[in-house]
Amino acid sequence: MKTVFVLNGPNLNMLGKREPGIYGTGTLDDIAASCRAAAEPLGLEVDFRQSNHEGDLVSWIQEAGGNALGVVLNAGAYTHTSIAIHDAIRASAPMPVVEVHLSNIHAREEFRHKSMVAPHALGMICGFGPLGYTFALQALAARI
Ligand code: DQA
Repeated sequence: MKTVFVLNGPNLNMLGKREPGIYGTGTLDDIAASCRAAAEPLGLEVDFRQSNHEGDLVSWIQEAGGNALGVVLNAGAYTHTSIAIHDAIRASAPMPVVEVHLSNIHAREEFRHKSMVAPHALGMICGFGPLGYTFALQALAARI
């Protein structure tokens, strides 16, 4: 097993069109391609998914617990609100989760400063745009 799940939450399917001043002009497909390119030399395979539904993210984190080496998670706005995602990460321990955000959530509105993911994540990377996903894969590979 050398698969890493890269999970993306709500509105990330809109990348490219969505607030380009904050999120850039690249699409989620671009990020998927750069994740696969970054994973290959690390000896990892990427299972890349996106959903606008909280329960999908919960089910995928549970699934990863038995089927993946780790998870790179950009839970979008659910980062700030989801006890269910927080609990799913706890329930899948000790599988490592690396939290990623394209934007620097600490330089934005106060409601984005709190993360329900961070307390049980291996670490958190934010503010580096799509490059954050590459850093997260490297961090997971180093830990695994
Ligand atoms: C985001 C930051 C979140 O606050 C926001 O709700 C998103 C995207 C990011 O990647 O910067 O949807 O997770």
